[in-house]
Amino acid sequence: MRFEEVNGNIFYNGDCIMGAQEHIPDNSVDLIITDPPYGINGDRLHQHYNRDETFVVGGYVEVPAAGYGEFSLNWIREAKRILRPGGSIYIVSGYTNLYHILHALRETGLTEVNHIIWKYNFGVYTSRKYVSSHYHILYYEKPGAERRFNLESRYGVGEKAPDNGSPNYRDREDVWCINREYKPGQVKNKNELPTELLIKMLQYSSNEGDLVCDMFLGGFSTARTAIGLNRRATGFELSESIFDLRVKELRDTRPGCLLPSLRTPRIEGPENRGRPWTESDRKTLVSRFTRLTESGSTKKAAVERLGRELGRGRWSIEKMLKREGIRRSGRQSRTENEESGPGRQTRADQGQH
Ligand SMILES: C[S@@+](CC[C@H](N)C(=O)[O-])C[C@H]1O[C@@H](n2cnc3c(N)ncnc32)[C@H](O)[C@@H]1O
Repeated sequence: MRFEEVNGNIFYNGDCIMGAQEHIPDNSVDLIITDPPYGINGDRLHQHYNRDETFVVGGYVEVPAAGYGEFSLNWIREAKRILRPGGSIYIVSGYTNLYHILHALRETGLTEVNHIIWKYNFGVYTSRKYVSSHYHILYYEKPGAERRFNLESRYGVGEKAPDNGSPNYRDREDVWCINREYKPGQVKNKNELPTELLIKMLQYSSNEGDLVCDMFLGGFSTARTAIGLNRRATGFELSESIFDLRVKELRDTRPGCLLPSLRTPRIEGPENRGRPWTESDRKTLVSRFTRLTESGSTKKAAVERLGRELGRGRWSIEKMLKREGIRRSGRQSRTENEESGPGRQTRADQGQH
């Protein structure tokens, strides 16, 4: 299968099912964001939208509606294989073939996290029924490890909007109103996903350096945004004409170029919140806690004091003490401690606040 390398990122010109089988190892991808062909004659979609196709790149490969169920099962099976345990997948889907995708997700054992509705502008105009102006975004995870979710990547949980509401809460509601990009006179792909939508998924579900895969690259919008946010990217596009044009454009995307445009969330709280616990942090916690409780301090007072000393929240201290096998008395239970003792730090530990 033909491939091109752009800044160390590899993209394949070919079928994603065969391509993933040949080139992407098991459990190697942190995040998949993808927008499969809709199986509704997407190659003629402009007729629905009554759009001027002058600037739309030709070559879009559609999947016949009759084979959509089997096609979905095959590519989602591959997506699950390449995703690491705890990795996330976002699939954008219209409603016509949604049930095939939901069925395939269930069959392959990926687990639902959220069913998001993306409301966009420029819906399909109708006069005898409601105007259709949403897509479904199926946000699932591969079981087996703690999923990354960067709670405060965009808004701190303590931030307040001018009307006293919480921007963090609002940003995490499962209905997203994000407009499509209007690009008069510029080359575009059919159904190109807006950068704003992609940035949101990438910020919540990946970190810099993570590997992000798009099974259906189309206009390479996922890859472009991922690289712009300093993630690594890979993926597949079957159409030769789209692939050649978009790979060429991608060479102009400087890694990290979108980072300066991100807002800085205002995060209040303990200074070490979010930092992984080291072995030495854990040893200090256990010995200080034991000493404090043995010298008469209550558990509550000891936890509060250690929170201040170690720059961590109460919940984090309590959870780590439990993991280290500390019982209410302050004594360490040998068996529990041996099970979760030093050297047994899991991905879940690293995500604790
Ligand atoms: C809905 S578009 C993706 C749009 C893309 N997310 C964007 O923002 O531009 C789906 C793309 O999948 C491609 N495609 C169709 N079948 C494919 C397959 N089996 N493997 C890889 N790509 C395929 C189509 O040519 C089309 O470009």
